Amino acid sequence: MSQSIESVLTENRSFAPSEEFARAAQVKSMAQYEEMYRRADEDPEGYWAEVASELAWTKKWSKTLDWKLPDAKWFVGGQLNASVSCLDRHVATWRKNKAALLWEGEPGDTRVLTYGQLHREVCKAANALIALGVKKGDFVAIYLPMIPEAAIAMLACARIGAPHTVVFGGFSAEALGDRIKDAKAKIVITSDGGWRRGAIVPLKENVDRAVEGTSIEKVVVVKRCANDVAMKDGRDVWWHDTVDVASPRHEAESFDSEHTLFTLYTSGTTGKPKGILHTTGGYLTGAYYTTKLVFDLRDEDIFWCTADIGWVTGHSYVVYGPLANGATVLMYEGAPNQPGPDRFWDIIAKWGVTVFYTAPTAIRAFMRWGDQWPAKHDLSSLRLLGSVGEPINPEAWMWYREQIGHNRCPIVDTWWQTETGSIMISPLPGATPTKPGSATRPLPGIAADVVHKDGTPAKANEGGFLVIKKPWPSMLRTIFGDHERFQKTYFGEVAGCYFAGDGARKDADGYFWVMGRVDDVINVAGHRLSTMEVESALVSHPKVAEAAVVGRPDDLKGQAIVAFVTPRQGVAADEALAKVLREHVSSQIGALARPEEIRFAEALPKTRSGKIMRRLLREVASGSKSRGDTTTLEDQGVLERLAQSFAQEE
Ligand code: WT7
Repeated sequence: MSQSIESVLTENRSFAPSEEFARAAQVKSMAQYEEMYRRADEDPEGYWAEVASELAWTKKWSKTLDWKLPDAKWFVGGQLNASVSCLDRHVATWRKNKAALLWEGEPGDTRVLTYGQLHREVCKAANALIALGVKKGDFVAIYLPMIPEAAIAMLACARIGAPHTVVFGGFSAEALGDRIKDAKAKIVITSDGGWRRGAIVPLKENVDRAVEGTSIEKVVVVKRCANDVAMKDGRDVWWHDTVDVASPRHEAESFDSEHTLFTLYTSGTTGKPKGILHTTGGYLTGAYYTTKLVFDLRDEDIFWCTADIGWVTGHSYVVYGPLANGATVLMYEGAPNQPGPDRFWDIIAKWGVTVFYTAPTAIRAFMRWGDQWPAKHDLSSLRLLGSVGEPINPEAWMWYREQIGHNRCPIVDTWWQTETGSIMISPLPGATPTKPGSATRPLPGIAADVVHKDGTPAKANEGGFLVIKKPWPSMLRTIFGDHERFQKTYFGEVAGCYFAGDGARKDADGYFWVMGRVDDVINVAGHRLSTMEVESALVSHPKVAEAAVVGRPDDLKGQAIVAFVTPRQGVAADEALAKVLREHVSSQIGALARPEEIRFAEALPKTRSGKIMRRLLREVASGSKSRGDTTTLEDQGVLERLAQSFAQEE
């Protein structure tokens, strides 16, 4: 991939926004962007205070920022309710009868909720949660498919000051249980299932296994699939029996700006996922601001972000960002290739989607499925395209531009993280000339840079660490229950800076080229995983003595998981075992973590101090041709000789 980026750099292909697009855009020129950037850089507090004042506050803050590295408090003393900024204030205007949510289920069923209706549903859910005993500060776990109730549940939690912790429906019972335990959640909201590729995902069954021995007191179950599920007396209640009968009137209380809005678990470099904690005022300011600038939203837009609500992209760009802007969002439940490879294009044509935001891994799958699929549909409603989750290779970028955007729609390649809460580096579609593969420039207010380990700036086109030099409102506040890990991970690497964990470089025009993670985090089909997490899952199997997991480049997924496994004495290293282990990882974490390839080795190459030589394993994994599902017993002599030559190099 780096080679293609080189070729783009030398060609310096660049696409300027059309005059027509620029004329109507929020930010209309690079001169205007530069001016905003300069203003925000000179007076960050003044700049962010102005942005934040566009939300609905019931009490104005007394201090914009309280910053004692690594601790930031934004809009100190201010009070607001996130669900009021997303709903009530629009319901008070003509937007009451504007569509807030357009929803399509995988089987083809649809629902539309206006702002007025969404507000009523959220109020009912808020009242129902209160009746179930949820109080301000109690954590609520949400494990739902992409149905309107997912957004309703999140907003209802926000409304009553109960932090939500959404767990992606693709995670296993085991992973859900770990997250529930860490958050000490009191209630979990789930459904009898969700549709995925024509089959029902057994969410309720997973919940039943996950909540054993946890703090969970109640399970609220949405009926989605008419799936027969067991209901435990005294613990489980149906959504329609509790929410549907609750009062649609709820007077929202305001919370402190720094009140926890949610935690969301993401993988770090250890085996234990981190509960990334975001607070109300700052997070909402970031989600609101970036949605407005980057997606250039207008009232007549239909905005479709394809991310699941279980990821931060779903939080910021399906729920909080667009709703805080009074926009219309589209939500789709199922797979992109159900019933055929053109489902997404069918949805865009049918609903008239204008702004479309998806991940490079999806774009590469669409490329592979063939140009005939998008060509069958009228995509002329689209005016802007977005990409997120991993570096987008220039080939996929060009395909997206030509086959989906018909060379007419600007592309915003947005770099950010669960931790940053909202987009940090991205083109502004009416202003920034784009280069395929580059996320271009930081947004006004974001002091991003590329530096060496000692903090000195890297030269043009020189690789370094991607850092943020000043606090921003939607930054994470801590890792739930582990402030020390928070400080060490993000502020302990480069003095004075937030360290993102990504490698990057800036070109002569100041454009950022994000190269990927520099730590033991891998990105598989836009899903973030820790190699250690997969390793712990593997060694928890009784037949495994030791395991090392690495990522190898993959044309479709960006990275694929390769696991080197040393079986216990006397255990046969064969295809049957590989199969068992792949399933084991899947049940421990989720299908997204299932290793692509398992390679057995008599021993793993280690340094003298006993550290596994991952760099060596990465080379071994990517050097040889993919063997797909077959397994090999690594020749110990080969590994040893390789290890020796590596040791000499280091
Ligand atoms: C990691 C964050 C942010 C929402 C989805 C992922 C990678 C994300 C880009 C991009 C290059 C990107 C980084 C980052 N990443 N967007 N546009 N170009 N890399 O959130 O799961 O917290 O993962 O995704 O490596 O650190 P996440």
